[in-house]
Amino acid sequence: MSLQRQPRLVTLEGGEGAGKSTVLAALRDALLASGCEVVCTREPGGTPLAEQIRGLLLDTRHEPPSPETELLLMFAARAQHVSETILPALRRGAWVLSDRFTDASYAYQGAARGGDVDFIAELERRVVGISPGLTLLLDVPVEIGLQRARGRGDADRIESEADEFFERVRTGYRTRAEAEPQRFRIIDASQPVEAVAAQAVAQLQAHRDALQVSG
Ligand code: TMP
Repeated sequence: MSLQRQPRLVTLEGGEGAGKSTVLAALRDALLASGCEVVCTREPGGTPLAEQIRGLLLDTRHEPPSPETELLLMFAARAQHVSETILPALRRGAWVLSDRFTDASYAYQGAARGGDVDFIAELERRVVGISPGLTLLLDVPVEIGLQRARGRGDADRIESEADEFFERVRTGYRTRAEAEPQRFRIIDASQPVEAVAAQAVAQLQAHRDALQVSG
């Protein structure tokens, strides 16, 4: 069983402090301006139950989850998000903009945490079943991204990992992007956020134009 590509599902990926929230708002505004229905969502999260799972995953007050627990909770949240939020929106013709999706599990739980990539792929096939039409990877050197993220205040559990962890996240994302160039666009997110947002909007427009040409 292969993944079903969803042209109107657009995902944003990147390390910490890449500027995803600002870019997501710019993409949303561009779609709204052309009269589209847009659902903005995020992972882990995107439904009340999945947001509770997010709270468990990022909380520092209990013992840290084992790598397997972390992976399975990410996919539990994602299964709920896909069935309750993403698929209903896509079925009624809306665009869905998600701040992170399955690629994040390959980068964080796979490349950075050392999880079994075949197991992640199996979970993706069995509990997700869909892949985005376009994924924008906001790529930023770890040092710059962490400086921005940590400047925002208290770090959550994952933000508190060592810099080497985030180097592996970055490499994991770039490797995935290079393996699937037709779906991914890499944007240099060390630029000012307005420039990053403008490039993201241009990539979304090019994706929409290509969809119209292909019918
Ligand atoms: P955020 O800070 O972009 O909202 O994401 C929350 C954290 O969760 C971030 O540190 C990345 C991490 N994460 C994973 O480790 N695996 C995943 O599959 C997802 C979606 C997020």
